[in-house]
Amino acid sequence: LARGVREPDLAGRHVVVSAGGTREPLDPVRFLGNRSSGKQGYALARTAAARGARVTLVAANASLPDPAGVDVVPVGTAVELREAVLRAAADADAVVMAAAVADFRPATYAAGKIKKKDDQEPAPVTLVRNPDILAEVSAERARSGQVVVGFAAETDDVLANGRAKLKRKGCDLLVVNEVGERKTFGSEENEAVVLGADGSETPVAHGPKEALADTVWDLVAERLG
Ligand code: CTP
Ligand code: CA
Repeated sequence: LARGVREPDLAGRHVVVSAGGTREPLDPVRFLGNRSSGKQGYALARTAAARGARVTLVAANASLPDPAGVDVVPVGTAVELREAVLRAAADADAVVMAAAVADFRPATYAAGKIKKKDDQEPAPVTLVRNPDILAEVSAERARSGQVVVGFAAETDDVLANGRAKLKRKGCDLLVVNEVGERKTFGSEENEAVVLGADGSETPVAHGPKEALADTVWDLVAERLG
C-alpha cells in the first residue's frame, strides 16, 4: 500500500488514545510537568483514523495540530485525563495509554501565586499519588473484549521491567521503549518492543512514530478478531 493509505481494518471500531504529558498545578502560574511531546499518541490517533476507526484523542498539553477526523478532548491534569479516558472508554473497543501521566501531584493548590519572602526559606512541596488510569481501565474493561495498551520507558533490564509492568497493570499489550542516547523525548522516531499478555514479543525497528503506531494497531486488530 502507498504511504498514508491503509486498509480500513478498524472501521466500525471506537478507539481511545491518550497523548502528551499531564501538568499538575502548584498555583495559578506554576506546575509539575514532564517532557512528553505527544507525538507518539498523535501518530496513533492519525493512524487509527486512517484505518477507519472513530478516534477519541485525550490530549494533555500537547502543542500539536488536531488530527483531521479525530475527536480531540483537551485535558490538563492526571485527574482530568482519568475522567476523560474513563468516559470515552465506556463504549471503546480499544484504549491506548500513550500519555505520560504524572505519578504524583502537589498535595495542595495555592489559589494565589506563591510569593517569595526575603526572610524565609521556601516551604517544601508535598506530593500525593495520582490514580493509575491504565490499571483502572485494565481492571474495569468497560466493554467485553476491550483491548488495553500501555506504554513504558525503561532502563537497565528493559524486557524484565516491561514484563513485570505488563503484569502489574493488567493490560493486553505494553509498548516498551528503551531510554538512552538517540532515543529521546520529542524525537520524530521511536524503537520499541511490544510485549503481549499472551507472552508474545514484537520488536519494532528504529523508525517513524507512524510505523510503531501501525504495529500497535495490527496487534490490537488481531486481538479484536
Ligand atoms: N499510567 C497511568 N496512570 C498513571 C501512571 C501511568 O495510566 N498514574 C500509564 C501510562 O500512560 C503508561 C503506563 O501507565 O501507559 C506506564 O507508565 P509508567 O510511568 O511506565 O508506569 P508506572 O506504573 O508509573 O511505573 P514507574 O514507577 O516506572 O513510573
Ligand atoms: Ca510513572
